[in-house]
Order: sequence, then structure tokens, then C-alpha cells
Amino acid sequence: MRAFFSLSGQCAFWAFSKDALMLDSQAIDARYDPPMSAVPPVSAPPALPALPLDADGILALAARSMFHLFSSISQGMFLVDRSGRIVWVNEGYRRFLPALGFSSIDEFMGHMVEDVIPNTQMRRVLETGEPILVDLLTNKAGTFVVSRIPLRAESDGREGRAGEVIGAIGIVLFDQPETTLQPLISKFALLQRDLDDARRELASQRNNPLYQHAADGQRRSKYTFASFIGSSPAAVEVKRHARRAAQSTSPVLLLGETGTGKELLAHAIHASSARAKGQFVSVNIAAVPDTLLEAEFFGFAPGAFTGADRRGREGKFKLADGGSLFLDEIGDMPLGLQAKLLRALQEGEIEPLGSNKLVPFDARVIAATSRDLPELVRRGQFREDLYYRLNVLPLRVPPLRERRSDIPALVEALGEDMALRSGEAPPEVTPDALALLAGQHWRGNIRELRNVLEQVTMRSDSQRIDAAQLERILREAGLEQIELPDASHAPGDEDGNLLRPLAQQIAELERKAIAAALAATGNNKLATSRLLGISRATLYERMTSQGL
Ligand SMILES: Nc1ncnc2c1ncn2[C@@H]1O[C@H](COP(=O)(O)OP(=O)(O)OP(=O)(O)O)[C@@H](O)[C@H]1O
Ligand SMILES: [Mg+2]
Repeated sequence: MRAFFSLSGQCAFWAFSKDALMLDSQAIDARYDPPMSAVPPVSAPPALPALPLDADGILALAARSMFHLFSSISQGMFLVDRSGRIVWVNEGYRRFLPALGFSSIDEFMGHMVEDVIPNTQMRRVLETGEPILVDLLTNKAGTFVVSRIPLRAESDGREGRAGEVIGAIGIVLFDQPETTLQPLISKFALLQRDLDDARRELASQRNNPLYQHAADGQRRSKYTFASFIGSSPAAVEVKRHARRAAQSTSPVLLLGETGTGKELLAHAIHASSARAKGQFVSVNIAAVPDTLLEAEFFGFAPGAFTGADRRGREGKFKLADGGSLFLDEIGDMPLGLQAKLLRALQEGEIEPLGSNKLVPFDARVIAATSRDLPELVRRGQFREDLYYRLNVLPLRVPPLRERRSDIPALVEALGEDMALRSGEAPPEVTPDALALLAGQHWRGNIRELRNVLEQVTMRSDSQRIDAAQLERILREAGLEQIELPDASHAPGDEDGNLLRPLAQQIAELERKAIAAALAATGNNKLATSRLLGISRATLYERMTSQGL
């Protein structure tokens, strides 16, 4: 079977099989042919268009249609030969070249694909012969939905034996997937979030002495209060309340937007409580199907239900005996189970499924949610009595925008953590980039800040992150940007004010800038010097001369 195409004026012979495009051995050479726009097919076309009736004809037609479809709906396509060298790109693909760092097509052509397209998986397709029909590719040019299909020789020839992989075609199906594939991307973002959190957990387990002591397989907490970065008044206040809560035995309720550090604080509360030697057991209620939650919480007796383990199983309440039980996303708990949880909390006893026996437990409950619990109570979706039972020590974890002055220190800590995991040097964030970060709304709070930093470092060629790069990533990530306060535009008699000795004006401005930066960073000298783009020694010297 063989099909004939015109690729932007160049010709190739294609056929389509289950999951690979078959490329005739002459096709690679054909790219060097002079442009042709309308080349007649091998056999003379029928006078009137008609459906071919033989299998080869149908496949050839399907291949042709598929190829035309791809080339018309896709954003760009390119070909690599069997060695991974770029041998052809279509018109559409050319517009990505500047973002990839190439000013002309000649600089791009003829190079190994991984040298010119960061993070590409084309080599894998060449090596395995397996197509990657849909994938997300992120590199410095952006995030794209791509498809990669191996090309196989159709018949024995100079390029290879029939069926051998002799090249691959890369197709950019969509650029800006954030807008074109919103539901898929949201799901992907959620999965990515969980994966990133899991990776971070693993990394901190490796580096945290608390975990190293837990070689007995016991679950210990991974964070202490020192892991909760922040010296702003809001951060200091929440840590003060959390430390007090750690000393008590009552349930703790952590409330706050997503990514504010509720889970981190739950670990820290456990680690500095009298139960620190016990286990820290956590259940993410939103992640467990409703039907399994009861068994997950309370365990089940041997043979309690069809398919149950014959030995029965202990629930999380029992596992956390002597330690803390972290009930994450408590706002997502089904109503039926809320009644059972309330009873367990009141009585200090649980009843494993199918056992008819009450078992005492001794676990301290720490619950968290980013949902508006009082509103859920008003709507009848959360039991009022359970709410009051949990609300003994409520802690509101502030959103990042209420503690912007912590951003420089957070960027530093997150950067170092990222570096520890990747083995590369931590990113160096310029003062103007820091100021830009400090001006964002941060709906996803510290998790979002971390993701943005990860994206910028991944897409940047150097460790240095400046405001221009950052702005591009923020815009792509759909973050809304807040106007940065501009001290030089204070309202008033500007012109009159400017007609004074320059030295006096500069000294005034310097004093104002230092005072503002100190206030913004909660008096953190290192963060202040970074924000102002001067060394710490210079900062101290200027503060002394300004009498600050
Ligand atoms: N004060 C902080 N200092 C350093 N890292 C922090 C801080 N607060 C949060 N983080 C980091 O931000 C990420 C999100 O934190 P965490 O999972 O505790 O948030 P959360 O409030 O439980 O969010 P969600 O409601 O979405 O579950 C984690 O990687 C955590 O380590
Ligand atoms: Mg959480």
C-alpha cells in the first residue's frame, strides 16, 4: 500500500498502518526535490471522484486524509530521520523557532532533535518504535499538546528493511493548552500537584533526621515549626497559636485556602506535642471513595463483607493510637460518616465494621479543610455538632497575600529545596523579579509560588531569574498581576519637590526605600538587601548613615 502526498510543496510517499506512518524509502530523499505543488498520483485518477473499493486504496485514502487533517489542524509538524536529525519542518512549525532560541530555519535544520527541542521524547519513539499519540511537552517555548509517530520503511530499500523505523514525525496539536484543553489540564494540574507533593515528601524523608529515626517503619511527622517559613506578623501569629495547640489534647481545626501550609502545620503540631513519639497518621478524605471511608477509618472485622481480608484490618484511628490522626479535607466527609466520627470523638471508642465490639482508641485529631465549614453547616452539608466538636482550637492559616513580606524568605527556602532535589544550584531571583512575585494575588498560595518557581527554572537556561522571564511565565500560568506600588509616583507637588539639591533628594529616597523594604520583609536584613539589590554590608552601612 502506498499513498502520495505533497508536504508544503515537497513530496513523500506515505501509507498508514495501525499506529505508524509507513514511509517509502524514497521519501527521505524526496525532501530535497524541488518544490512541487500538484503532482499527479502514480496511477491516473478516475474521471469522477469515487471511493476506492480495494483495501490498499482505502488505507491510502485514509492515510492521505489523516495527514491533511493533521497538517491543517495542527500548529506545526517536523520530521526526524532515524538518527534523530531534523530533516523537515512545515510552515506552521517555524513560528516556534524564535521561542526555542533560533532566528532562522537553517540554524534549526540538521541538528539532533534533543539539541534543539528541550525535553522532547522523539528519541524514545525512534528507539521503541511506539507512537506517543498525545502528550504534554513543556520547555522554554511553552507548554504544548503534542503527538509523535514513528515512520517505518514500507519496503526493503536503501533506508532499511520493510517495517523498520526510519524516522519519526512530531506534531504540535495545540499550543496554549491552558485555554484549548481546560478540563484536561485542570485534571493534569491536580495530578501533577499530588505528584509534586509526593516527590517533596520523599525528598524530605531522605533529608529529615526525624525520618531517619523512623527506620522502624513507623509514620513520623516530616515537618517541624522551623519548616514553616515566615516572620511576618501573620506567620508569627499562626505559629504562636499552633504551638499553643500542640501543648493541648483537644482536637485542632486548621482552616485556610489551598496551599497555605495546613498539612505542614499539622505535622509540626504533632512533632512538638507530647505525642511526637507516636505515629502521625493521615487520611485524605477527598481522595478515598465514600464507600471505603468507614473501613479506612475504623477498620473491619475478619470476613466483615464480601471480598474483605480474612484477617480483618485495623483502621487509621487504631493505627494512630498514642499519636495523632490528621483528617485532611474534613469538609468533604459524607454526612453518614460524620455521625460516626462524632460518636468516636465523644466516646473515645470505635466500632470496626462487622465486629459489634467497641474498641477504645487514643489518638489526637487534627482536622483541616480549605472549604468554608460554617457555610457547609448552614447548607446542611456538615453536621453542626461535629463542627463544634472540632472547632475547639481553630487555627486560620493566612493566605500568602496577607504575608507578602515572607515571599523573599520563602523563595529562598523553596529554591534551596528544589535545588536539593534536582542536584542543581538554587535559582538566583533578581530583586525586580522578587518585587514582581511579591505583587501577585497567589490564589494557590505557597504551592502555587513553588510551582511558578519550578516552571521558571525549568524553562530558563540560566539559574538567574529576572522579571521579564518571570512575567512571561506568570502570564502563561494565568496569574492576575497586581500593580506594583511605585514610590516615585506619590501624589502631590512633584515638580516643586524636585527643584531641590539632588543629594538631598537621593538621600530621602534612599531612606524611604530602605524603610519600606525593611517593613515589607519584617526587618529581615538579608531579604531587604535582596529586595533592594544591594549587599548586606551596604545595607548596614546605609542604615547607619541614615540613622535607621
Ligand atoms: N510556611 C511555609 N514554609 C515553607 N513551605 C511551605 C509553607 N507553607 C506551605 N509550604 C509548602 O507549600 C506546599 C503546600 O502546603 P500544604 O500541603 O501544607 O498546604 P495545604 O494548606 O494543606 O493545601 P491544600 O488545602 O491544598 O491541601 C507544600 O509543599 C508545603 O511544604
Ligand atoms: Mg492539604
